Amino acid sequence: MRMMAGTDSSCASDPFQSTRRGLAFSPVQCAYQFAASYEENMERGPHLPPPSTLPPSTPLKDFLGRRVYSRIGIAAGLLMNSRWLRDYAARGFDLLTYKTVRTRAHPCHPPPNWVFVEEGDEPGGPMFALEGLPSDPALVNSAACFGMPSAAPEFWREDVMRAKEALQPGQLLLVSVAGSAQLGWDAQRLAADYAQCAAWAADAGADVIEANLLAPALPSGNGAVFRDIALSRLVAQRIQEAIGPVPLLLKVGNPDAEHELAALLRAVAGAAQGVTLSSATARRVLHRDGRPYFGAGHEVVGVQGRIHFPASVAAVRRARHLLEREGLGLTLAAVGGVASVADAAALFAAGADAVLMGSAPMYLPDLAAEMKRAHPEW
Ligand SMILES: Cc1cc2nc3c(=O)[nH]c(=O)nc-3n(C[C@H](O)[C@H](O)[C@H](O)COP(=O)(O)O)c2cc1C
Repeated sequence: MRMMAGTDSSCASDPFQSTRRGLAFSPVQCAYQFAASYEENMERGPHLPPPSTLPPSTPLKDFLGRRVYSRIGIAAGLLMNSRWLRDYAARGFDLLTYKTVRTRAHPCHPPPNWVFVEEGDEPGGPMFALEGLPSDPALVNSAACFGMPSAAPEFWREDVMRAKEALQPGQLLLVSVAGSAQLGWDAQRLAADYAQCAAWAADAGADVIEANLLAPALPSGNGAVFRDIALSRLVAQRIQEAIGPVPLLLKVGNPDAEHELAALLRAVAGAAQGVTLSSATARRVLHRDGRPYFGAGHEVVGVQGRIHFPASVAAVRRARHLLEREGLGLTLAAVGGVASVADAAALFAAGADAVLMGSAPMYLPDLAAEMKRAHPEW
């Protein structure tokens, strides 16, 4: 893969120019500095270049019963505090998800936490860390290993209030919440932890709660909550009881089998207003010499970006079909691999009600403005 000459892994100091699919991208840099710690990024970021284009005004439309200027937003992850949220709101993203918070403080893994990666020769095999940013944003994949950190509730509850104050009318604050399963907990206890977290987020001003059901159901296991249909429903019910009229989205993965997705959607319809469907997967991420990039114990990590895009489109099409076939009134937000106007168009055409981006806004912060200019109706 061709790399930008002179870029380092922070890719913050050497902007590049890229043109693809007829769209000219302004010189860009990374808002998140890979070489710095998570805490440094929280305190000093985002490192954004001046806007290449200003967000256009667009007509209001509906999302989850709220009026919004667009159904284009940022998924849980990049917006790790109110500073990040404020700066991306100013770039025209209208659905802004505050990174997953918990009912107790949880540390971040030591750096490195995020890196650009490329495929190796073996399909589905390890991916390899890159030294810089690929020259074409269409090809960007990245791997992240943060450990789902959370500030203490005393801190994040106040910071969510600050985030809410930073938004304009027509923009929504989504707060991603997760339970933190402890040894010895049962399903009821875990659901109560989710509900407590959601209640605090709603009190602090969240317009929408997104429950992160990709989080582990058990402290030791790899099994995510969404794979347990009864648990997913219980979590949704407890949260909904705790947050009253605030809409609830459930962030879920894309099960291999269609009947599993159908069963999950059927089980949560009525308990939640919608789902955020993610097709991201975990992969081994290595240095070229074979060492695990994120260190021992963190060989397999979440990979996001371009490799998931075809699966995202297929997953949204399948979910939309199931929702219509079963008459389920769930809103469908899509996330996975979007890095251009054309990508978002494909997801809307497949049946998404909203399109969220996890990683691309980090190096393409003007994507929302470009999308809204091309499609004011989104
Ligand atoms: C740096 C980073 C941190 C993330 N943190 C979270 C998180 O806290 N909670 C969550 O639900 N998803 C998290 N994600 C996953 C994203 O929400 C999204 O599902 C994923 O990046 C796929 O979208 P993309 O291909 O547009 O990047 C994170 C992703 C990245 C890149």
